[in-house]
Amino acid sequence: MSELQVKPLNYKELPGLSERQLSEHHDVLYAGYVKKVNEIRAALANVDLSKSNGTYSDLRELKVEEGFALNGVKLHEAYFDNMTPQGQQPAGDIAGWIAADFGSYEKWAADFAACGLAARGWVVLAFDLADGKLHNYVCDIHNQGGVWGAIPLLVLDVYEHAYFLDYATARKKYVDGFMTNLDWNVANGLIAKYELNKHRK
Ligand SMILES: [Fe+2]
Repeated sequence: MSELQVKPLNYKELPGLSERQLSEHHDVLYAGYVKKVNEIRAALANVDLSKSNGTYSDLRELKVEEGFALNGVKLHEAYFDNMTPQGQQPAGDIAGWIAADFGSYEKWAADFAACGLAARGWVVLAFDLADGKLHNYVCDIHNQGGVWGAIPLLVLDVYEHAYFLDYATARKKYVDGFMTNLDWNVANGLIAKYELNKHRK
């Protein structure tokens, strides 16, 4: 299995997010998850399967943390990808789908931002293959609360480490700023990449 690589940031700072805040988050925290996935997978290659046990075993601990670290990588990459210094309103398929599934962009945005205050970890605008619709999902920890078969199209990190240097405890200000830094070309690119039009209902 090939090793994961750190995906570079496309910007140094964003409106409302300083270079230091972003570099601590990307270069230290996110890069740490990449390193741990590779370390865990190397250990899994040599784990003793005969000792597998649901209370404690090397296999159990490694598999649980593989899910935690790998989702940490995926969610962070999506989060950093879908922000841009040139934030924009949605266009294309994602704009039409949001309006159809939430009533309007404003209604979706109000729900998504409120989820940002309700979640302890992540808010994800996801396309659920099960019903062919968009949903705002939350999860508190990388490997708990994700919905199987749902494709993340927009990801918001609400862990304190994502904003504490710039905002201290003012999470609402951070979330409001995030909503103005969105690159909707990424969501439309994912819709095309995964051919989600074929699953749209
Ligand atoms: Fe984070």
